[in-house]
Amino acid sequence: MLAFLSCLASVCCLSTAILVPITITSDWTGRFQGDLNFLITEEVVGWEVKINFSAPITLIDRLSMTHRLFQEWMGDVISHSPDNTHFTLVNKQHNGILHKGDTLHIQMFADGTKYDLNEVLEKSILFYEAQRSGKLPSTNRIPWRGDSALGDKGNNGEDLTGGWYDAGDHVKFNFPMAFSVTSLAWGLLEFKDAYVDAGQLDYMYDCLQWPLEYLMKCHVAPHEYYVQVGDGGQDHAYWGRPENMTMPRPAYKIDEQHPGSDVAAETAAAFAASYLVFKTRNGTFAEKLLEHAMQLFDFAEAFPGKYSDSVSAASAYYRSDAIEDEMCWGGIWMFLATKDPHYLQVAESNYISGAAWGQEFLNHMKPFIVKVLLYKVTKKDIYKTDLEATFTDWMPGGTIPYTPNGLAFRSQWGSNRYSANMALIAIMASLQGVHTQAYQKWAESQINLMLGDAGRSFVVGFGTNPPTQPHHRSSSCPMYPAPCSSFNMQRDGPNPHVLYGALVGGPNQNGQYTDKRSDYVSNEVACDYNAGFQSAVAGIKALYMRGDLP
Ligand SMILES: *[C@@H]1O[C@H](CO)[C@@H](O)[C@H](O)[C@H]1NC(C)=O
Ligand SMILES: *[C@@H]1O[C@H](CO)[C@@H](O)[C@H](O)[C@H]1NC(C)=O
Ligand SMILES: *[C@@H]1O[C@H](CO)[C@@H](O)[C@H](O)[C@H]1NC(C)=O
Repeated sequence: MLAFLSCLASVCCLSTAILVPITITSDWTGRFQGDLNFLITEEVVGWEVKINFSAPITLIDRLSMTHRLFQEWMGDVISHSPDNTHFTLVNKQHNGILHKGDTLHIQMFADGTKYDLNEVLEKSILFYEAQRSGKLPSTNRIPWRGDSALGDKGNNGEDLTGGWYDAGDHVKFNFPMAFSVTSLAWGLLEFKDAYVDAGQLDYMYDCLQWPLEYLMKCHVAPHEYYVQVGDGGQDHAYWGRPENMTMPRPAYKIDEQHPGSDVAAETAAAFAASYLVFKTRNGTFAEKLLEHAMQLFDFAEAFPGKYSDSVSAASAYYRSDAIEDEMCWGGIWMFLATKDPHYLQVAESNYISGAAWGQEFLNHMKPFIVKVLLYKVTKKDIYKTDLEATFTDWMPGGTIPYTPNGLAFRSQWGSNRYSANMALIAIMASLQGVHTQAYQKWAESQINLMLGDAGRSFVVGFGTNPPTQPHHRSSSCPMYPAPCSSFNMQRDGPNPHVLYGALVGGPNQNGQYTDKRSDYVSNEVACDYNAGFQSAVAGIKALYMRGDLP
């Protein structure tokens, strides 16, 4: 049974509408059969059935009805709401007449995703809105957020306001921020139809533009780039609202004497991917992105070095172990944006072969993700073989363990985000014809575990029994002027503000999870946690819409 799909239908054009619930008689993940039975209480000469579903339906087909002992193909869907949850059916000309005492039995087959993915997309975008730093625009939709960190500036007074706070804290780390932007931009590029259908396209452009404007501000000269604002130690010692921070917020930059090819190439990737996203939306903005991308990638190539060697403040948080994966990733995006073969050559020459798992805290994903894009661009077998080897490792029977519920469990700290990222890669690989069905099904199973299949939701403010205590400072503070301090971190009880759309860290290897704010391993949220997740959700929705998911 599809527990998720509650639905009420009514026949109208009667003196009183008849309301009945839908009975789901068969459920094949994603496709179901539903029956409606209306007992007719008066003479009817034409009818209309309105159906409200609790989740979007992509297609209703094979409607049939039993009407006075014979079965026939019946009515048509004449309209549906933009979000595909409300449908109106009308009778065909030959079956409009119903008599008192008849039962109108309607049987339908329909395709629907198991969870309301439109709602997930909408809420995930809201999470990024809650992470905004700087002067908020009048369009801000988060009532408990205000202007913050308006004094963020570079060593020469450059304006560095804006961007996203990294996680439950208030440091602005460009390395993960840029990676999140690239992952989100990639999802929008491939699955724009999903955002359009969900009514989220404009919000999604805004979502990306916010950090992009900031990343451009940070790039103060061709070979000078601020990569972090805020000191991890001082920031983490403060539990309170970003609007009320008073600690110093130092800014750290890379330059020719202090290089950082990884963060420069990563940011170039974000700009190049976003150039592709924005070029049909706002040519002026897109050209600015491309110019910054080219200068930063040039800097990354000409001055090799790891940024966490140059900026020690970053090394405890988002250390980089190697520059090859970002040079490869950035190179591919530069090639996709410019078609200049030089960039593809840089990408391929920095490719690290094999199914190897990067040990970097954040960059776990890049050694895999590049394989998909390189295969897409070159169609060379080596990339496909490496991709398959990676997934053999991740699928049941490989070296990656699974929780009892079926979540591929790479590591405890933020277990959900590893699987969400791999789900995105699986979907992207499936688009290249690599084990299409198996990879898509696996990806959907992983995402569904986060949305409710594990018996609860792991997305704040979404679905059944969602987390209420994300390890997140601003949403844990009551409305100003009530005080906020580490007491608000330690106390039990839901955060006063719902941090809609945030994917929390996730369960342990035994599938156990406790909704407890002080446990940041299971309950922190982060820009990079939601990025692969959101793009994977858009991908699954798009595959349903395109009729590609069985
Ligand atoms: C169905 O949805 C419409 C529009 O939201 C609403 O007006 C109507 O009352 C709903 N009907 C039922 C039976 O819930
Ligand atoms: C604290 O933050 C609130 C907004 O959340 C703001 O209205 C208030 O002015 C701030 N107070 C101080 C002292 O910064
Ligand atoms: C396009 O981008 C430019 C440069 O960022 C900006 O000034 C302008 O307002 C944007 N136009 C639209 C229609 O968004």
